[in-house]
Formats: sequence, C-alpha cells, structure tokens
Amino acid sequence: MKFPPWTSISEAARLLKEGEVVAIPTETVYGLAGNAYEPTALAKIFAAKERPTFDPLIVHIADISELENIAKDIPDAAYKLAEAYWPGPMTMILPKKDCIPDLCTSGLPSVAVRFPSHPVAQAIIKESGLPLAAPSANLFKHVSPTTAEHVAAQLADRIAGIVDGGACAVGVESSIISLAGEKPTVLRPGAITPEMFAKVIGDVSVKESTSKPGQAMQAPGQCDTHYRPQVPLYFGEVPAGHKLPPHTVRIAFGKQTGPIPAMVNLSETGDMTEATAKLYAYMHDLDNPDYDLILVDPIPNTGVGMALNDRLKRASIKTLP
Ligand code: TXA
Ligand code: MG
Repeated sequence: MKFPPWTSISEAARLLKEGEVVAIPTETVYGLAGNAYEPTALAKIFAAKERPTFDPLIVHIADISELENIAKDIPDAAYKLAEAYWPGPMTMILPKKDCIPDLCTSGLPSVAVRFPSHPVAQAIIKESGLPLAAPSANLFKHVSPTTAEHVAAQLADRIAGIVDGGACAVGVESSIISLAGEKPTVLRPGAITPEMFAKVIGDVSVKESTSKPGQAMQAPGQCDTHYRPQVPLYFGEVPAGHKLPPHTVRIAFGKQTGPIPAMVNLSETGDMTEATAKLYAYMHDLDNPDYDLILVDPIPNTGVGMALNDRLKRASIKTLP
C-alpha cells in the first residue's frame, strides 16, 4: 500500500502547485483536490474517480474575498450567506468567471464555490495559493470518505498524496444552494438546512430529487445511485413477518426496536448531528462481502435528517430481498 505515510500539508501544497491531485480533509468529507485553474489537473481528478465529465466540481477557497476571483455578478444574498455560514458546510452556485475552465463546471455558465472550515483544508489552500477544485475523494457512485483510510482504500494507487486530518466532523457533503437562477434553490441538503438559509435570505426553494431509476439525470448531482455501497442497502421499515436474508446487518437509529438486533447505532439518543457524522463510516465498515444486506432504520426527515434521508434513499435498493 502506498499510504500511509500520509502526505504533509507543505508536501500537498507543493504537489498541487505541480498540477498533481491530492486528497485533503474537510469538515464534511474528504475531497480530491487539484488546481481549479488547470485543465490537466482537473482531468486527473475525473480520471482518478472514473467520474463522467458532465458532473461538475466544487471550487474551494480559504477567504471570502477570493469569491470574486471565481464568480461574477455576485448577489447580496451570497455575501449574507457567506457571512453567516462560511467557513463551513455550504456550497453556493454563482455565475462563473472566464478564468474557471469549462472542464471544472462541465460547460455550465455557473460555478460551485465553498470555503471549508477544516483548518488543514484552509492551510493547504493558503500554502498552495490556489483555488482547489475538489469532489469527494471516492470512486464515482461509491460512498464518500470520512477518514484518510477510506480514501486510501479506494484511490491509493491513483493519486499523488493523501493528507490525514482525522475523521470528518460533519460527515455528509455540503449543502448546495444555487444563487444563479431566479430564486435561491437548495440543490443538495446538508448540515445547513433550508430553514437556516431562509433565516438569512428569506424564502428559498428546495429541489426535489426528481430522478427515477432508469431515467437520465435531471440536473448535476441528481444521480440516483450516487452513494451506493456494494452490499445492497435497504433504508426504511421492514414489514412485520418479512424474512430477511441470513447475513443481514442492521444500523439502528435511536431507541427503536427493529426486526433483528442492531450491530451499530447511529445515535442512541436520536441525535441527528451525531448520526450524520457516523453514517458513512458505518456504510464503509459494513460494506463487506460477509453480509448480504445492510438495513438502516428510518430517520425523521427534518433538519439535518433531510440530508441523511436524501443520501440513504439514493443508497437504498427499492424493494427488500
Ligand atoms: O462537502 C462537499 O461539498 C465535498 C467536499 C470535498 O467539499 N465535495 C463534494 O463534491 O461533495 P462532489 O463533487 O462529490 O459533489 C458536488 C456536487 C455534484 O453533485 C455536482 O453535480 C454539483 O455539486 N455541482 C457542482 N457544480 C455545479 C453547478 N455549477 N451547478 C449545479 N450543481 C453543481
Ligand atoms: Mg461526491
């Protein structure tokens, strides 16, 4: 195995300046970073992830003032949200500047921008002196990594470095809000909830996940099977009397009783933030051929729970075996 040893902050900054791609920690999930201005670095990101180039990347910055280098026609709402929630788990979609290559935005006239709060991410961005394009550091359609070990298991042989910044505190990808259309619209739920957006900028729309199995992607990020583990995962209630496969493993939430004893619990007390931080690590741990089915208890679809429901619905098979 190429990693560990993990890459240092200064080594990561050097590699990024040379056009290499390096996995870096953020407070949400690990990102696979490259120079956002450099199409060959962006091409390496898509290649390492086996990600189709129609799915655009988020550009990471380490100061609100850098927003103006990346985006143009920035509305007041963007500055209000930046003041309220940056640095943090929020990505804003804004009209892009010409200096951002089309490969970064998949040809869209808009760009996704985020200012992460993780001190290691900020240090790498600052030391490299570059805005960093970074999707989650997983293979396309696989579960996002929340530890350096998760990254190494999927991408070790394909990338120049992995910086270990510990387990991600948030554990689910950033909330994405588009400010490039007529009305602010939440495109992906995350730790910043629609209520939190509304508190700062007033009424916001929330995009429903519209893609159905077998249907083409409706919009970037709407890919239905984005977060799927290899072992079938079922999210939801199990009908009484249903006979589960022999090697079923259950991820519980709160004090609910389930059809079989739980192997792990997202949060004994039903704390949604704790559950969010743990979910992907459990999905990685239990995605093991010893099991035929991963069962996840229902989770209330409110607050951060909306992000958990969104990811788990995409990860879930439609009918119980
Ligand atoms: O928390 C996060 O956002 C993490 C960390 C590494 O920052 N990154 C992440 O990136 O989740 P990724 O590439 O896995 O997801 C980014 C999503 C994609 O679904 C993409 O389609 C959407 O953002 N996106 C990017 N640019 C967009 C644009 N101009 N318009 C609409 N959606 C966009
Ligand atoms: Mg991703």
